[in-house]
Amino acid sequence: MATLELSIGEEVAVTPVRRTRRLGPLFWAAIAWMTFVFVAAALANLLPLPSPTDMDMLERRASMSAQHWLGTDGLGRDELARLIYGARISLIVGLCAPMIGITIGGALGMLAGYFRGRFETLVVGSMDVLLAFPPLILALAVTAYLGQSILNLTCILGVLGIPAFMRVARAATLTLARREFVIAAQALGATHARLLPAWRCRHHRRRERIVFLRLGRTASDTELGQHDRRGTREPGDRAAARLPSRGHDVPDRTVLQPGRRRAAGAHRSASGRAVTEPALLSVEAVSVDLPTPRGNLRAVDQVDLRVGAGRTLGVVGESGCGKTMLSRAILQLLPKKARLSGRVMFDGQDLVGLDPERLRKLRGRSLAVVFQDPMTSLNPVLTIGTQLIETLQEHLELDGNAAKRRSVELLAAVGIPAPEQRLTQYPHKLSGGMRQRVAIAIALSCEPKLLIADEPTTALDVTIQAQILDLLAREQRRRHMAMILITHDLGVVAGRTDEVAVMYAGRVVERAPTPALFKKMRMPYTEALLAAIPKIDAAPHTPLPAISGRPPDPTRPIQGCSFSPRCRYAAGQCHREKPSLAAAESLDHQYACFHPIEVAAGATA
Ligand SMILES: Nc1ncnc2c1ncn2[C@@H]1O[C@H](COP(=O)(O)OP(=O)(O)OP(=O)(O)O)[C@@H](O)[C@H]1O
Ligand code: SF4
Ligand SMILES: [Mg+2]
Repeated sequence: MATLELSIGEEVAVTPVRRTRRLGPLFWAAIAWMTFVFVAAALANLLPLPSPTDMDMLERRASMSAQHWLGTDGLGRDELARLIYGARISLIVGLCAPMIGITIGGALGMLAGYFRGRFETLVVGSMDVLLAFPPLILALAVTAYLGQSILNLTCILGVLGIPAFMRVARAATLTLARREFVIAAQALGATHARLLPAWRCRHHRRRERIVFLRLGRTASDTELGQHDRRGTREPGDRAAARLPSRGHDVPDRTVLQPGRRRAAGAHRSASGRAVTEPALLSVEAVSVDLPTPRGNLRAVDQVDLRVGAGRTLGVVGESGCGKTMLSRAILQLLPKKARLSGRVMFDGQDLVGLDPERLRKLRGRSLAVVFQDPMTSLNPVLTIGTQLIETLQEHLELDGNAAKRRSVELLAAVGIPAPEQRLTQYPHKLSGGMRQRVAIAIALSCEPKLLIADEPTTALDVTIQAQILDLLAREQRRRHMAMILITHDLGVVAGRTDEVAVMYAGRVVERAPTPALFKKMRMPYTEALLAAIPKIDAAPHTPLPAISGRPPDPTRPIQGCSFSPRCRYAAGQCHREKPSLAAAESLDHQYACFHPIEVAAGATA
């Protein structure tokens, strides 16, 4: 792959221009009037007013006077007193009834939208019943039973408002709960309580807050900082060198084990050799099926993979071939309706069917993920510092100051300039490259044993891509961490991975040590992927190469080899039978093809 040689961290902070909005005289007049009404209603008992119920038959329908500023009504009662005491009742009912609706309806809607399933059906069904009930009859029935009072009236109006607030909250939650930053938070081991309005209580020192149900701002909000790079060298490398000395802040178990530090470089020099050490991650016959209106969609089909400690596996394939579904199957973060079969052995335990609490503790601590789009993978309503500190506190149980110090070190290590100031900023103030660095810092914060980087550079421009890939490679080597680098670009895995698995239509169709694959690829699809990389030395106006045809519809599996409609080597058997993985020159190199390529591709890793 052609990449530009750039040093990491040519990003500088841009101070956002603050625009203060001027509020006009009408705004202040409205505020003054509202304040006057509230104060008058609240202090009605203290004001020199007659009782609003006192009648004076001699003064019926009297006009304005010094005694009755607004005159009297037909029963001789003071109009001003009735107005002020009446405002009291209106304000109590007008404020308390929506509060009941918001509190109960909002909570039910959020829980229904988040947990879905039977609970959602129950909540939505009950609200439909409540809506179908005529409000006037309900009000009459309740007052007839409990008697007339302001409290009863407020409760009736509040209950009648619950369905509307429930629907708004549920709709917002349904949208937001599918957003990448929520999945990213789950992948970091966030509890349900942390994702929903925080009734979390594990650490009393943590503030309660709504994490994602904050309407109005979206993850796609991008303002300043899109191009805030250029300037002084970042402190990344210097800070990276400093980082291991953080032991005073972090409990012992977070400091790298000597065993985990074993030279990653030694693996790289063993070009093309068998992976002999026990696998940290072993994916065995994993399939993922998703029910869709068009039928069953097999997103991942009988995938087998192994990644050893400190090794890097590249997973390559076209869009829609199941790379993300595979990573979500490893993390056990599949959509609720998905069906998973097979085994995912990680660090000696099968993650499939593992107790949710143990799984949550593993995520973020031992298993971490960096998502494709840095614009959506960070929570837009929490500061960078909060997101980092929460992860550190959740998994490492650091106190506030230690977590903050560690956050600064982490941000510096991934090349964020002025890390202390960045802690207080929201993601929309950072450029795409800087956000991805923050996402990497969060993922690395607990020294995971395995990092899954799902197309971490696809959403970034080409110069930043090279920086982020180099940063990942550097941190992976430094921490002797295993990594799965998911990409659609064979050029990205060349020279950056130990082994490559090529996926097509949900299956692994070729798997080999990286040097062996680039020396002699056997699968026509791998060859087509390599040919599809734009060449920097191509003549001007050369059409961009592409693999002809389209990937098969995953809901309509085709007979025979799934690549056969697009394969230039396809012959009779290819259309009838599905090839299974077979060993090539060595046991490590496997391919699924009846007519493998015999000529060396001529590419080098
Ligand atoms: N929530 C979902 N419900 C139904 N089908 C889905 C869902 N998510 C993904 N799919 C389907 O599963 C298949 C694999 O999707 P996946 O996201 O894993 O592809 P990918 O290889 O990661 O693609 P890309 O490179 O574009 O990210 C695709 O056919 C996709 O349409
Ligand atoms: S099995 Fe046949 S159709 Fe499939 S990749 Fe090999 S040659 Fe092409
Ligand atoms: Mg994907």
